[in-house]
Amino acid sequence: MSRLYIYYICFMSTENAIVMSGIRPTGYLHLGNYFGAMRNYVKLQEKYTCFFMVADLHALTTHPDTKELKSNVYRVIAENIACGIDPEKAALYCQSHVHETAELYLYLNMLAYLGELEKTTTFKDKARLQPDNINAGLLTYPVLQAADIILHRATWVPVGKDQEQHLEMSRNFVKRFNHRYGNVFPEPMAYNFGDELVKVPSLDGTGKMSKSENQLATIYLADDDELIRKKVMKAKTDGGPTEINMPKPDYIENIFQLMKLVSEQSTIDQFEKAYQECTIRYGDMKKQLAEDMVTFISPIRQKAIAIQQDERYMQTIMEQGAEKACASAQKTMELVREAMGLVY
Ligand code: TYM
Repeated sequence: MSRLYIYYICFMSTENAIVMSGIRPTGYLHLGNYFGAMRNYVKLQEKYTCFFMVADLHALTTHPDTKELKSNVYRVIAENIACGIDPEKAALYCQSHVHETAELYLYLNMLAYLGELEKTTTFKDKARLQPDNINAGLLTYPVLQAADIILHRATWVPVGKDQEQHLEMSRNFVKRFNHRYGNVFPEPMAYNFGDELVKVPSLDGTGKMSKSENQLATIYLADDDELIRKKVMKAKTDGGPTEINMPKPDYIENIFQLMKLVSEQSTIDQFEKAYQECTIRYGDMKKQLAEDMVTFISPIRQKAIAIQQDERYMQTIMEQGAEKACASAQKTMELVREAMGLVY
C-alpha cells in the first residue's frame, strides 16, 4: 500500500477528523460569526485537532488598504479567545504566516476553471460592490479558501450557511487533484452541530448580519450595552398579528430566530404563545431580546478588551499557532509535491 493511500485512509476516519476554519479581519465580529462559526469551534476543539485562522490574505481581495489590518488581526484573535478558543488546544494563527498556503493555492489554480469561478455567488456579489477593483484574487478567492482547508487535510469545516458554495468548490478541487495526481486529500464538508448550517439574520429583516454591510442591523461582539439596546429596539415590527395562528412575516420570524440564539426556552415559548393568540407586544419582546443579548455579549466584549491590551500575549499565541499550522502544512506539501511529480 502506498504512503499516500495510507494517509488518505487515516484522515477519512471520524476519530482522526481534522477541523479547519477561518474568519476575515475585515471588521468587527458579530453574532453571525459567533453562531455560524465560533460556537462550533469551541465545541470541536475539545475532541479534534483544530486549525483556526485569521484570513488576512483573503481580506486583501476587498480591503487593499492595510493601514488597519494589524489592529483588525489582533482584534479577531482576541475575540476568538474571548469566545472560548483555547490556544493550547487549537492552533490559532494568521493565514499569511503559513507560506505553504501560497504554494498550494498556485497548484490548485491550475485545476480551477474560469467558468466556475465566474459563477460563484460571492464573486458576483463582490464584483457588483467594487466594480473598479475586480481583481484576480477576488475571482480565485474559493481556490485560496480550498488551499487553507486542505493544507491540513481537514474534513470538517465549521462555517455558516453563506460558505456552503465555497465548500462545494473545495470538494470539486480535491476530486480533480486526487483524480489527476492520486489520493492525497479527503473531501472537506461544511460543519455545524445541529441539522443545518446557520444564517443569522439582520435586525432589519433584509439579509444577514455582516461585518461591513448593514451595520445598524448587525449586533457586534464589541457593541456596548446601550448600543445593543438601541439597535434591537429599532428592529422592524408591525401592529401585530390580526388572526389566531397567523404565519409570521419574515422580519418577525427573524426576531424569533434571534431570540432562539440567546434567550431561555421558556421566554421563547411565552412570546410564541402570545403571537399565536394575538396578544404579543413587540416592544416587550424587543426589550427582552435586548437584555438577553446584553447578558450574552457583555462578558465576551469585556474579555476581548482585556486580551487586546496585552499585545505581547497575542503575538505569542500567533507564533505558537503558526508553528503548529506550518508543521502540518509542511507534511502535506511533501505529499503534494511527491504526488505531482515535483520532486527531482
Ligand atoms: P467571514 O469572515 O465572512 O465569516 C466568518 C464565519 O462567520 C460565518 N458567518 C455567518 N454565519 C451565520 N450567519 C451570518 N450572518 C454570518 N456571517 C458570517 C461565515 O459563514 C464564516 O464561517 N471565506 C471565509 C473565510 C475563510 C475560511 C477559510 C473559512 C477563509 N479561508 C477556510 C473556512 C475555511 C469568510 O469570508 O468568512
